[in-house]
Amino acid sequence: MKDMPARPVYLDNAATTFPKPASVLGKAIATYRRIGVSPGRGGYDLAAEAEEFVRETRRKVAHFFGSSDPDRVIFTGNATDALNIAFQGLLHPGDHVVSTRLEHNSVLRPLYHLRQKGIIEYDLVRFDGKGFVDPADIIAAIRPDTKLVVVTHASNVLGTVQPVREIGRSCAERGVPLLVDAAQSAGVVPIDVDDWHVAALAFTGHKSMLAPTGIGGLVLARQVENIESSRFGGTGINSASPVHTRDFPYRLEAGTLNLLGIIGLSGSLDYLEEAGIEAVHAREMELLGKLREGLSLITGIDLYSVEDLSDHVALLTANVRGMDPHDAGAILDGDFNIAVRVGLHCAPLVHEDLGTAPQGTIRFSIGPFNTTRHIDLVLKAMKEIARHAGEG
Ligand code: ALA
Repeated sequence: MKDMPARPVYLDNAATTFPKPASVLGKAIATYRRIGVSPGRGGYDLAAEAEEFVRETRRKVAHFFGSSDPDRVIFTGNATDALNIAFQGLLHPGDHVVSTRLEHNSVLRPLYHLRQKGIIEYDLVRFDGKGFVDPADIIAAIRPDTKLVVVTHASNVLGTVQPVREIGRSCAERGVPLLVDAAQSAGVVPIDVDDWHVAALAFTGHKSMLAPTGIGGLVLARQVENIESSRFGGTGINSASPVHTRDFPYRLEAGTLNLLGIIGLSGSLDYLEEAGIEAVHAREMELLGKLREGLSLITGIDLYSVEDLSDHVALLTANVRGMDPHDAGAILDGDFNIAVRVGLHCAPLVHEDLGTAPQGTIRFSIGPFNTTRHIDLVLKAMKEIARHAGEG
């Protein structure tokens, strides 16, 4: 097809950013070739060097998220893994949890599982017409037996960034720990866990942090003492004991760490520090503004994002009126070489409330390597698709 780009126009950065910075990948492979042994497990210099690299990366992660304690940086496989560790470790029979209808299945499914097992109860707070949760609604839902509030920082369907600082302050006043799912915000929105009174922050490396897949983490506040292990095994310390250590960070880590992922995360943090996350975010938002404006001018497009894109990350959802988003996605891919995510985006309640269930929407999510030309190509494609849909 004329104007079909040779390489895909990749607009699925909320699923995972692609491509990753070449320098991050190059450096990661070189470092892994040099020190890729089991960190901390051997009595030789290379194992000590690998362990020191891991420790240094914990320091970098703590600094990046405004935490004062690198030993409370727990490495996990991804944000879902971190959230599960937090739920399993913090909740007990009879506990009540407050969360929101904006959540991804990474929160909804563990909560549902625990409720089905008869362990917890929970309530989900609504979001407003612009996609934001009102902190007052969260506070109103807190009961005497509420032991955890869990909130997504940025919606993976609407892109709205929730007022976590305000929620954190209110939770702290009531002595209820706040768990934040930062899957979509870490790397583009500044986060300060100590200042915001966040008890636990779950993040993944492979989205806006620009690291490879398979590495994420849980950043715990110092006051979170009563979190229990839900997986047990080798830690490289106190090996004679049958009991899994209670020392942080090893209390919540078992088995050999993903050293290649940790090395990649370390490099991506350097990359982000040099690029400046505010600058990366501002550039992505400029492209999002252009996309939103262009889509709003096309007849036959339903947009599910408000005009004011402040407090947003760079994604939005839309539909071609009268067309299943899966068909639109297939046409964008097949005829225009444009990659987007369609459907429910693992956040079914958001679509219920938007009125877009069960088909969902087309989601366009922008990353650091998108360009103005990409947006022009998408707008041209969407105009053609909407015109054909209108004729049909
Ligand atoms: N949670 C990721 C997304 O929203 C996979 O696409």
